[in-house]
Amino acid sequence: MRKKTKALSFFLLFFAAQALPASAQPVLQSVFHNGGVGKCTGCHTIHRAPSIANGTATQSGPYLLRGTDPGSTCLNCHQASNLPGPTAQYISTPDSEMPKGVPPKQMTPGGDFGWLKKSYTWMSGTTIETDPGYMHGHDIVAVDYGYAASPVMTVAPGGTFPASDLTCISCHDPHGEYRRTANGTIVSDALQNACASGSYDTSPDPTPNCPVGDYRLLGGIGYSQMGVDHTFAYGPPVAVAPSDYNRSEAMTQTRVAYGEGMSEWCANCHPAFLNSNPNTLSAYRHPSGNGAKLRFIARNYNMYIKTGDLSGTIATSYLSLVPFEEGTSNYDVLKTHAKTDNSYLTGPDANSNVMCLTCHRAHASGWDFNLRFGPVQQTFLTADPGGQPAWPGTDASGNASQAMGRTQAETSRAYYDYPASRFSPYQRSLCNKCHIQD
Ligand code: HEC
Ligand code: HEC
Ligand code: HEC
Ligand code: HEC
Ligand code: HEC
Ligand code: HEC
Repeated sequence: MRKKTKALSFFLLFFAAQALPASAQPVLQSVFHNGGVGKCTGCHTIHRAPSIANGTATQSGPYLLRGTDPGSTCLNCHQASNLPGPTAQYISTPDSEMPKGVPPKQMTPGGDFGWLKKSYTWMSGTTIETDPGYMHGHDIVAVDYGYAASPVMTVAPGGTFPASDLTCISCHDPHGEYRRTANGTIVSDALQNACASGSYDTSPDPTPNCPVGDYRLLGGIGYSQMGVDHTFAYGPPVAVAPSDYNRSEAMTQTRVAYGEGMSEWCANCHPAFLNSNPNTLSAYRHPSGNGAKLRFIARNYNMYIKTGDLSGTIATSYLSLVPFEEGTSNYDVLKTHAKTDNSYLTGPDANSNVMCLTCHRAHASGWDFNLRFGPVQQTFLTADPGGQPAWPGTDASGNASQAMGRTQAETSRAYYDYPASRFSPYQRSLCNKCHIQD
C-alpha cells in the first residue's frame, strides 16, 4: 500500500513538472523558454513517457525528443486544437480547423505555417491554374504534424542550406543559448541562463547578472543545427515585438520595431541575396541590408496612402504590410515603437533600411514566397464591387482568377484582416509604397 502511494506521488510530481498538454494550456501567454533553455522535459522524454502530442501513444525521437523529430517536438506546444483565434505563441493551425475555404488562424509577425497546406486551383479562361501550398513559405520538416520538406527546392535559394533538414531548429536555438548582455553584445553561454525573454517591449533591460534572450531565440554567430554541416556567420537581428503580437489587424496594426540586422541574419542561409549597397544593383538583387538605406525613397513611403492618394505624412504613414528597419540598435528607442494600438505610426527617414521582411514573412504567408502582400501574379490587390474596394474571393467579389482560388476570408486573413476599405478599388501592388509607379 505504502509503496503504491509513493509510486503514485512520484508519478504526479513527474507530470506536474511537465508542461501542460497543449490543449489544456491557458489562452494567455505562459512562460516556458523564458529567453533561454526551458525545462528539459518539455522537449525531452527521459523514459519514453507518454507524448504531449497525443497523450497516450509512446513516442520519442532521436535525442529522446518528445516528437518524432525536432520540429514535431516544438509543435507539441506551438500548435493546439480549438483555439478561439490568434493566441499567444501558436504559429500553426491544425488541418481539421482549416478545411477548404477556411484560412489558418494565427496572425503572428512570423506567420502561420498552416498556409503551407493551403493549395489552390482555379480556372483562368480555359486554363487550369495552380498555386501549391509548399510555395507559401519555409517548408519545415515536422512529420507528426504533416509538414514535409519542399518538393521543389533542394537548397536555400542563394545559398547551400539543405532543404531536407529545414525545421524550427534550423533558425531557432532549441536550447536558447544566445543572450543579449548589459553592454548590448550577444554571447553564447550555456552556463549563465537568461533571466527573461529579450524579444518584447515589456522585457527587462539586461543587467550584468541577468542577460536576456536574443530576439526570438534565433541562432547567432557560430550556430549550427545538430547534424547539419552549416554554420551561421551573422548574429541575430535587433528587433522588439509588442507583447501582444499575435492578433487581428482589423482595427489597429501590429508594429514590430525592427532595428537592424534582419537581412544579414537571413543571409546566414541566403548569402547571395544580401545587397547592402543601394548603389550597386549590379548583383541584380533588390537592395536589402543594413546599408540599404531608403534615402530619398523614404519620402515616397511617407506620402503614399493608396493607389491615387499621395496625401500621407510621416506621422501616420507606417504600414505593417510593408515594414522597414529603423537603422538603429537602440533598444530603449525600439521598445517605445513596438505597439498594437496605432499610437506610433511614424514612417521611415532617409536612414531607415529595406530588409528581407519588408516584403517577406519569416515563416509562411497566404502568398507565394511567404510574401507579405499581394501576389506577384496579380495586377490589382483589391476588387471593386460597385466602386467599393474589397478583398477578392471566389465566394464574394472579383473573379476566381483574381482571387487565385481563395475565398474572401482567406484573402482577408492573408492580409491579417487589414480592411480592404483602407485601400483603393483597383489597388496596385504595395511595391508602390516606395516606388509610386502608378
Ligand atoms: C525547446 C526544446 C528543448 C528543450 C527545452 C531542451 N532541449 Fe535538448 N534538444 C532539443 C533538440 C531539438 C535537440 C536536437 C535534436 C536534433 O538535432 O536532432 C536537443 C539535443 C539535446 C542533446 C544532445 C545534443 C547535445 O547538445 O549534446 C542534449 C544532451 C540535450 N538536448 C540536453 C538538454 C537538457 C539538459 C535540457 C534542459 C536543461 C534540454 N536539452 C532542454 C530540444 C530541447
Ligand atoms: C513545453 C511547451 C513548449 C515547447 C516544447 C516549445 N515551446 Fe516555444 N514557447 C512555449 C511558450 C509557452 C512560449 C511563450 C512564452 C515563452 O517565451 O516562454 C514559447 C515561445 C517561443 C518563442 C518566442 C520566445 C521569445 O522569447 O521571443 C520561440 C521562438 C519558440 N517558442 C520556439 C520554440 C522552438 C523552436 C521549439 C522546439 C525546439 C519550442 N519553442 C518548443 C512553449 C513551448
Ligand atoms: C527560416 C527561419 C525560421 C524557421 C524555419 C522557423 N522560424 Fe520561427 N521565427 C523566425 C523569425 C525570423 C522570427 C521573427 C519574425 C518577426 O518578428 O517578424 C520567428 C518568430 C517565431 C515566433 C514568435 C511569433 C512569430 O511568429 O512572430 C515563434 C513562437 C516561433 N518563431 C516558433 C517557431 C517554430 C515552432 C518553428 C517550427 C515549427 C519555427 N519558428 C520555424 C525564423 C524561423
Ligand atoms: C522589395 C521586396 C523584397 C525584398 C526586400 C526581398 N525580397 Fe525576396 N522576393 C521578393 C519577391 C517579389 C520574390 C518573388 C520571386 C521573384 O520575383 O524573384 C522573392 C523571392 C525570394 C526567394 C525565392 C527565390 C527563388 O529563386 O525561388 C527567396 C529565397 C527570397 N526572396 C529571399 C529573400 C531574402 C533572404 C531577402 C533579404 C536579403 C529578400 N528576399 C528581400 C521580394 C523581396
Ligand atoms: C537555416 C537556413 C535558413 C534561414 C536562416 C532562412 N532561410 Fe529562407 N529558405 C531556406 C531553405 C532551405 C529554403 C528552401 C526550402 C523551402 O522553400 O522551404 C528557403 C526558402 C526561402 C524562400 C522561398 C520559399 C518558397 O517556398 O517559396 C523565401 C522567400 C525565404 N527562404 C526567405 C527567407 C527570409 C526572409 C529569411 C530571414 C527571415 C530566411 N529565408 C532565412 C533556409 C533558410
Ligand atoms: C521599403 C521600401 C521599398 C519597397 C517596399 C520596395 N522597394 Fe524597390 N527599392 C527600394 C530602395 C531603397 C531601392 C534603391 C533605390 C536607390 O537608392 O537608388 C530600390 C530599388 C529598386 C529597383 C531598382 C531601381 C533602380 O533605380 O534601378 C527596382 C526595380 C525595385 N526596387 C523594385 C521593387 C519591387 C518590384 C518591389 C515590390 C516587390 C519593391 N521594389 C519594393 C525600396 C523599396
